Amino acid sequence: MQIPCTAREKELFGCVAEAARQVGVPCYLIGGFVRDKLLHRASKDLDIVCVGDGIALAHRVAALLDPSLKVNYFRNFGTAQVRYKDLDIEFVGARKESYSRDSRNPVVAPGSLEDDQLRRDFTINALAISLNEADYGRLIDPFDGLQDMQNKLIRTPLDPAQTFSDDPLRMMRAIRFSCQLGFTILPETFRAIQDNAGRIKIISQERISDELNKIMLCSKPSVGLDLLYQAGILKIIFPQMTDLVGVEMVDGKGHKDNFYHTLQVIDNISRHTKDLWLRWAALLHDIGKPATKRFEEGHGWTFHGHDAVGGKMVPRIFTRLKLPLNDKMRLVRKLVELHLRPISLTKENITDSAIRRLLFDAGDDLEALMMLCEADITSKNKAKVKRYLENFEMVRERLKAVEESDRIRNWQPPITGEMIMETFGLKPGRAVGDLKNAIREAILDGEIPNNYEAAYQFMLLKAKELDLTPVK
Ligand code: CTP
Repeated sequence: MQIPCTAREKELFGCVAEAARQVGVPCYLIGGFVRDKLLHRASKDLDIVCVGDGIALAHRVAALLDPSLKVNYFRNFGTAQVRYKDLDIEFVGARKESYSRDSRNPVVAPGSLEDDQLRRDFTINALAISLNEADYGRLIDPFDGLQDMQNKLIRTPLDPAQTFSDDPLRMMRAIRFSCQLGFTILPETFRAIQDNAGRIKIISQERISDELNKIMLCSKPSVGLDLLYQAGILKIIFPQMTDLVGVEMVDGKGHKDNFYHTLQVIDNISRHTKDLWLRWAALLHDIGKPATKRFEEGHGWTFHGHDAVGGKMVPRIFTRLKLPLNDKMRLVRKLVELHLRPISLTKENITDSAIRRLLFDAGDDLEALMMLCEADITSKNKAKVKRYLENFEMVRERLKAVEESDRIRNWQPPITGEMIMETFGLKPGRAVGDLKNAIREAILDGEIPNNYEAAYQFMLLKAKELDLTPVK
């Protein structure tokens, strides 16, 4: 079997073949690397399986490649890893494995190549290529993985219930591969996922979120998210998302299905950015809707305050999903909180001060916010979409004009807290904050110009109202 290889990969395979001959163990390329090469996808992670001691093979390969290479190995698992230039190579001894029902810890015993292929997740991931002298380059495909690849099918080598019960994360992997590769999960395999969905609970949150993020990074994340929903997994791992599902009717009036709307918004934003966190912002932008949903007589359905409520939910969701609680989370929260602001600026008679406030509140994240807002337009009515986009274009122009005249983005008011404390002999406290806010608001509202002198005079005036006098 010819697979397209780089010169470095060829050099490496030659070296592995020679090491295997010296150690006396048959060895094979297997797993994701073979799959990706056959699909013409880039891959830097290589898995080598040998019938024998994988750790010994890894040491011999490293010695042949470059004696200064480090071999990381895990005796308990019988695996070893070598990093060679930009390639990550994993070595493992072929094994048969069975798992205990309540944990992921396998009971491992040495096995043949076929035993090893059988215990892998999907037929497309069980393809092996011989690196042995006698049949170098031969594709070993006992479960018709190549055929499944051609038919774009995700199928398990074993009874799917067994494969998923062995490692329930594979249910999410099936969905991720389907989303990533545009493959279909065999109906029988998908039914087994639905039947075993509850088993996902034994998987650590880190591994779950890792898969979720891989789905989020696909070109059309909606496919994977919808499959997670249909499989019954999403409700377990991310119930706030499934709370968005459905349309309620009162007096013949319904609202849009916020789950499918959200999926469309993620696909929309994914056409413009590969940034995982902007995609998360799209996923969470309406997360506050179920909690704020009301039916108001004469008005119909409303979701007042879902932006603020949704923003507050972000840290809790990130904590539960073990996503980073750092500036990425703060960005997502900010975008969720601000996602209605640009649309409110498309109304008539918008003052410069409203524009200035958005510039101030969004700061450097303004472009990201505008991208989210444009992705949020999911109407099927083409004329409506065109009108919305034109309105946003106008908002962008106003934002640009006000920014150019005021330089308000990432702006700090000309009077600081320290200056206030010094002027009035105050200790840190409420009065300092009140004065500082009053100055900032006056500038943002356009009441006073954005300069030190005007801000200083305004501060003196405000201080008088608070019975404060300058100490010098
Ligand atoms: N594998 C498995 N079950 C898992 C994870 C992995 O059977 N839960 C097997 C598959 O044969 C897989 C190989 O181990 O191809 C390597 O796993 P990994 O590197 O995690 O995934 P890849 O398939 O290489 O794909 P990706 O890197 O996109 O996750």
